[in-house]
Amino acid sequence: MKVVVHKYDSFDELELPDSSLVEMAINAATKAYAPYSKFKVGAALRLMNGAIVTGNNQENAAYPSGLCAERVAMFYANSQFPEIPVVSIAITAFQNGNQVSEAVYPCGACRQVILEDEIRFNNNVRMILAGKEKIFVVESVKSLLPLHFDDSAFKP
Ligand code: THU
Repeated sequence: MKVVVHKYDSFDELELPDSSLVEMAINAATKAYAPYSKFKVGAALRLMNGAIVTGNNQENAAYPSGLCAERVAMFYANSQFPEIPVVSIAITAFQNGNQVSEAVYPCGACRQVILEDEIRFNNNVRMILAGKEKIFVVESVKSLLPLHFDDSAFKP
């Protein structure tokens, strides 16, 4: 699958509703619980019914018990709105009190969770990967997971 990436050099180049979703991801990032990595990530989801759900990374002294911002937001959205597809997700991060300059890429596990939504609802999830000086907009998470695992592997 072809990766379609739109590149922007600043937040000001984004148009609504993407820019407002990034603002909400920024706000969510400031509330992250990341005392160990000090890397505060925020995610904001727009659902097809117009609802917005945000999340941030939640770390734990037992390191693997923590969870990324994207999955906190995705699981919360799916728990609150089980039948509503996610239309877009904005992701950003802060370090030392400043928004990172480069685009923030979701980890593989989070891509897999977002993919589940894309497949389940047969609807692309638009990803807005936002840094202060670089923003990448990707039209579909499937394009970021070549040779992905899905239920076709074990369906009879
Ligand atoms: N993190 C996220 O929240 N999202 C990602 O896509 C990558 C990493 C978090 C996990 C951990 O709390 C911190 O960033 C450093 O890895």
